[in-house]
Amino acid sequence: MNEHTFKEKILVFSKGINIDLIKKFVVFDEISSTNIKAKELAQDGEGEGTVVIARIQKSGRGRFERVWESPDGGLYLSIILKPDVSPDKTTLLPLVAALAVSTTIRKYGLSAAIKWPNDVRVNKKKIAGILLESEVIENQLCYVILGIGVNLNIDVNLFSKELKDAVTSLSHELHVTVDYHKFLEDMLSALDTYYTMFINGEFDRIISEWKTLSDTLDRRVKIVTSSDEILGNAYDVDSSGFLLVVTDSGKHKKIMSGDCLYFSEL
Ligand code: BTN
Repeated sequence: MNEHTFKEKILVFSKGINIDLIKKFVVFDEISSTNIKAKELAQDGEGEGTVVIARIQKSGRGRFERVWESPDGGLYLSIILKPDVSPDKTTLLPLVAALAVSTTIRKYGLSAAIKWPNDVRVNKKKIAGILLESEVIENQLCYVILGIGVNLNIDVNLFSKELKDAVTSLSHELHVTVDYHKFLEDMLSALDTYYTMFINGEFDRIISEWKTLSDTLDRRVKIVTSSDEILGNAYDVDSSGFLLVVTDSGKHKKIMSGDCLYFSEL
């Protein structure tokens, strides 16, 4: 996208949408990371529904302090959320975001699947990622930053050689350029729908919809956490969105965080 018009186009776009959750856009042509900026704004008192969006990120961040490569053509945004829920409920928000992103991608006829907890993949390759960061003080949730990166119109050859074979983009899969603003509107609208479910306490519904779009359950998996590697069968997710695995030695484990690898793809 033309860097000189990115900001203007988002500002025009923002005036034309009507999505309850979305209150304001803070737009950058280039930024280090939209999550970092959104966090600063939230700390300065910016309210729920503020979206920080950038054409390019110079230091995009992924889960577990990884780099999120963010060239021109991708969608990079972070939304400030301030749900009135207890902090332990926020473990469901990555699933909420994954539902919004994968249903939007599916509108393009691609069979996007969610790999626990929130990797969105097409044809076994990652097409979108979600990074949730929250601030809790004295068991009170102050804010949540929901960062979403989607490989929209990116030539996969632009990614580093380490990443190239593991990722894809919408334009690569569809062989056409996708309308950035249409995708953005559809995704924010889907997020509004699933976030409303979350606010209304419809947690079972979120989990059951997540299960219909995920390809993780009933699979042999390898879970890599900061301290452990677990081999077993992923058989369910609980009401917090944690993965339930029966290990090869027959133990039942609840996985709260970690990388989930599919044995069939190792
Ligand atoms: C992951 O799968 O590791 C999560 C990737 C999240 C990337 C997005 S892009 C917008 C926002 N800003 C960041 O620095 N990261 C998130």
